[in-house]
Amino acid sequence: MAEKVAENGEQKRFYLETFGCQMNVHDSERVAGTLVSRGYTAVGTMQEADLILFNTCSIRDKAAQKVFDRLANFKALQKQGKKFGVLGCVAQQEGEAIFKRAPHVSLVVGSASYARLPELIAQLENGETKVTGLEAATDEAFETEYTRRDHPFRAFVTIIEGCDKHCAYCVVPFTRGKERSRTSASVLTEIRHLVELGYSEVQLLGQNVNSYRDPSPAGLSFAELLAAAGAVPGVERVRYTTSHPRDFTPEIVRVMGENPVLCDHVHLPVQSGSNDVLRRMLRGYTREHYLGIVDGIRACARPLALTTDIIVGFPGETDRDFEETAELMHEVHFNSAFIFKYSPRPNTEAGTWPDDISEEVKAQRFAILQERQQAMQAEDNQAHVGATMKVMVEAFHPKLAQWAGRSSSNRVVNFTPMPALDVLGQPGALRPGGYAQVRITKAGPNSFVGQQVN
Ligand code: SAH
Ligand code: SF4
Ligand code: F3S
Repeated sequence: MAEKVAENGEQKRFYLETFGCQMNVHDSERVAGTLVSRGYTAVGTMQEADLILFNTCSIRDKAAQKVFDRLANFKALQKQGKKFGVLGCVAQQEGEAIFKRAPHVSLVVGSASYARLPELIAQLENGETKVTGLEAATDEAFETEYTRRDHPFRAFVTIIEGCDKHCAYCVVPFTRGKERSRTSASVLTEIRHLVELGYSEVQLLGQNVNSYRDPSPAGLSFAELLAAAGAVPGVERVRYTTSHPRDFTPEIVRVMGENPVLCDHVHLPVQSGSNDVLRRMLRGYTREHYLGIVDGIRACARPLALTTDIIVGFPGETDRDFEETAELMHEVHFNSAFIFKYSPRPNTEAGTWPDDISEEVKAQRFAILQERQQAMQAEDNQAHVGATMKVMVEAFHPKLAQWAGRSSSNRVVNFTPMPALDVLGQPGALRPGGYAQVRITKAGPNSFVGQQVN
C-alpha cells in the first residue's frame, strides 16, 4: 500500500485513544483501518503522532469530562503543528460546541459518520480547521471498507446499531441513534470471512442485541442468528453483548443450551432491584420479570455465568429501594457486577430531574454493593477449584511464567503450562488464540489460577 507522505517528506502518523464500551473499541478498529488504508501509520504516543484522535464516551459525566481534561493539556503539542480530533459519543453529543471548548480541535466526528472518514480526513489534510461529520445516527453502513482489528483472535461483529429504549438515564439513544439491524447474510458472511482469517472467537455487538430483527426476507430473530453464528464451521466461540431483560427470550437460553460454541455467559443488566426505580428508569420490566428470566437461565441445559450492571443513587432512590437492589443481588448471586453511581446526562429524561441523592450516599451505596459482590464472588468461585476449564490463551507473562486466558464464561484464568510443552524454556505449543485445558487450583474473587492438563 502506498504510504502517505506529508509535505515535509515524512510519513503521516496517528495516535488513537479509545474510551467507553466495546462498540467504541470496534469503531476504533474501523477508524484505524480507514487511516491505514490512506497510508497513515499508527503510533503509540502522542509525541510521535501528526494526528491525535480520541474516540470518546459520554455515558457518565466523568467519562465525558476525562476527554476535555485530556484535551486541555495539549497546547504545546498543538504548537508543534499536531492536529486533534474528537470522535464518538462526546462528538455526537456536543457537536460543534467542542470547537469552542477546545479550540485546538479541528475534527469532530460522531459514530454514524465513519463511512465518510476518508473524505473528512482529506478536508483536514487540505488545511481545513473545523471539519465535522455529525449526521444523525441513522446510517446503515455497519462496517467501513477497512477495519484494522486490534485483537489477533477475537473479532467484534456489529449486528445492531443504536437503541430505541430511551431508559430515563441514558444518552446512548442520543449518541448512537435509532436501532438499525444488519442483515443476517451480511453478519454470517463476515463471520465466515473472519474464520478464514484465523479468528476463533467472535463477539456479536449491539447496545441491545435481543431486539435484533433481520431486515432481510430471512427474518431471523436474535436467537436464530445466534444459532446460525454458532454453526459456522471453524468458529470456536461466539459471545454477544449486551442483552436487555425486556427482549430476552427463553429461545436464547434454549439455543445456548444446545451448542457449546455459544459461550456460557449472559450479561443481563438489571440496573435496580426496586420496581419503583425500574418504573421511573423506564426499563419496561419488573423485579419479578427479571427473576423469572434468571430462573430460565439457571435451568439451561449447561450452566451459564450471569453478570449484570447496577446503577445506585438514581433520583429518588430510597434506602428501601437500595436494600431491594442489595437483596436481589444476593438472591441472584451474579458472577460479576458492574456498579455505577448515577450521573445525570444531557437530553435524557432523568437529566431534568433533581439529582437528589448526595454524592456521599451514592458513594456509600456503591461501596456496600461492591464489597458484598466481591465477597460473594470470592466464595462462589471456590466451587470451581478442582474443575477443568477450556481456556482461550491470550498472553504469556514471563515474570510469572504463566499464561493468561479466558474461560467460555469470560473468567480470567492464569495458568502454568505443562512442563512437557516447555522443553526449550518456551511456553511450548501454546500460542495466543489457541486453547488449553486448565485445572483450577486457586480461586480469587476476579480470577482463577490453574495448571494446564492434557
Ligand atoms: N445497552 C446496555 C447498557 C449500555 S451503558 C443496556 O441496556 O443495558 C452500560 C451501563 O452504563 C448501563 O447498563 C448502566 O448501568 C450504566 N449507565 C448508563 N447510563 C448511566 C448514567 N446516566 N449514570 C450511571 N450509569 C449509567
Ligand atoms: Fe441505554 Fe437503555 Fe438503550 Fe441500554 S437499553 S443503551 S441503558 S437506553
Ligand atoms: Fe459510551 Fe457511547 Fe458506548 S456513550 S458506553 S461509548 S455507546
